[in-house]
Amino acid sequence: MALSKHDKIETNVSLMMVLTIVAISFGTLVELAPLVFGKQVKEPIEGLQPLPALALEGRDIYIREGCNTCHSQMIRPLRAETERYGHYSVAGEFVYDHPFLWGSKRTGPDLARVGGRYSDDWHRAHLYNPRDVVPESVMPSYPWLFDHTVDGSVTGRKMAALRAVGVPYTDDDIAGAAAAVEGKTEVDALVAYLQQLGTLLQMRR
Ligand code: HEC
Repeated sequence: MALSKHDKIETNVSLMMVLTIVAISFGTLVELAPLVFGKQVKEPIEGLQPLPALALEGRDIYIREGCNTCHSQMIRPLRAETERYGHYSVAGEFVYDHPFLWGSKRTGPDLARVGGRYSDDWHRAHLYNPRDVVPESVMPSYPWLFDHTVDGSVTGRKMAALRAVGVPYTDDDIAGAAAAVEGKTEVDALVAYLQQLGTLLQMRR
């Protein structure tokens, strides 16, 4: 009995493997090409600036304290999310982020657009003891952030390292980094970081 073309492929393991690899490679290229060549995912959105020195230190404290293990920074384009958090996240907001802090675990709310939602005083009270402002909160307290000052001795070098991977810090930013964080506490830095999160698109909502 003559085999149909399809039977020939299905009964020939080597041919099947080759064709499978071709099919998967093609699919991969189709998925990847827009990400590699598309402007939309690589170009910063209008007005995006590298984090100022204090907020940059705040970001490192955010990572050190593991805030990203309970909070995502990624609003999906779903009605339930945009109604609650604001404009969905777009790739161009994150081009200066190293590493990304999108996260996937939401024990607490998404923080992608928390900037400007509360006052600095609210954040300070909340970080000192979340139960003081949200009685049912399960978020840990971070009282030590109030006692420690930011170590500005390496802030400039962090900026230089980020510049090496494409974040457009200027020589002046780097030279002024230590002075910009001088005498600030860790909570000052963390609040500065939180207050700018997502504000660029929020305003146009
Ligand atoms: C164990 C999980 C957990 C960790 C770790 C955690 N949080 Fe939270 N966070 C929560 C929960 C739950 C809430 C909601 C209740 C509340 O407002 O306290 C919350 C609320 C918040 C809010 C208010 C968000 C809003 O839109 O109302 C901010 C801001 C926040 N957290 C910042 C932080 C920062 C900064 C850190 C790290 C220093 C952190 N959280 C660590 C669980 C956590």
